[in-house]
Amino acid sequence: MSVERILAQTPLFAGLSTAESDALAQLFRPRTYRKGAVVFSEGDPGATLYLIHSGEVKLTIMSPEGREIILALLGPGGFFGELALLDGGERSATATARAPSKFFALEREHFLTFLRRHPDTAAALLAALSRRLRRTTDLLHDAVFLDGPTRLTKVLLTLAEAGERRGPDGTLGPPQLTQEELAEVVGGTRESVNRWLRLLADEGLVQCRRGVVAVLKPGELRRRLPRSVNE
Ligand code: CMP
Repeated sequence: MSVERILAQTPLFAGLSTAESDALAQLFRPRTYRKGAVVFSEGDPGATLYLIHSGEVKLTIMSPEGREIILALLGPGGFFGELALLDGGERSATATARAPSKFFALEREHFLTFLRRHPDTAAALLAALSRRLRRTTDLLHDAVFLDGPTRLTKVLLTLAEAGERRGPDGTLGPPQLTQEELAEVVGGTRESVNRWLRLLADEGLVQCRRGVVAVLKPGELRRRLPRSVNE
């Protein structure tokens, strides 16, 4: 798929005319990454925005003890790397290709010049950043107010309900998370998340097969959530 097609399918650039989209497309450069390759690391300087053509990216931060937390999983049409580009600061997270991936990269000066000339794209970027901030507020809420098993139940339900739907900023529905990645999304150690999963599997609510988790009884799982989470 050409960069023009990807631009047309990316909500951030959706309102552009064909001429504007063609002009912007000239400024992107293709980059390919193998599965597991680190695109950039938390703390790096950064001046490039990435648009995902194909593949998957995970954005993670690391605790001082070396535990990883997944902030977001993105697929085709998603974008990342905008924060360092906008404020000139360091990369706020590490970006890793979860699958063989192709991106289109746009350098800071080109993007900022484009935003100055296209207020609709600037507004769409603000809307996308607002959605990310809301999601982060939810994650913070859950990390502080919910215990581990409840967080796991909530993540499992979100994955089950998302189907293969994709969020407006390229957020994936349920990618095939390994149990280790599930722990990184839930924010628990792999051992404790595996223990909670086994308890749910013993009750027939979920099934763990070859490291991939399937929700069997979402209704029953939802009833387990405290009422304040369900409302
Ligand atoms: P940047 O800081 O340049 O590099 C890391 C990228 O991860 C960041 O830009 C965003 O694109 C993305 N990112 C950082 N924090 C979050 C978050 N809380 N939710 C979604 N994406 C994020």
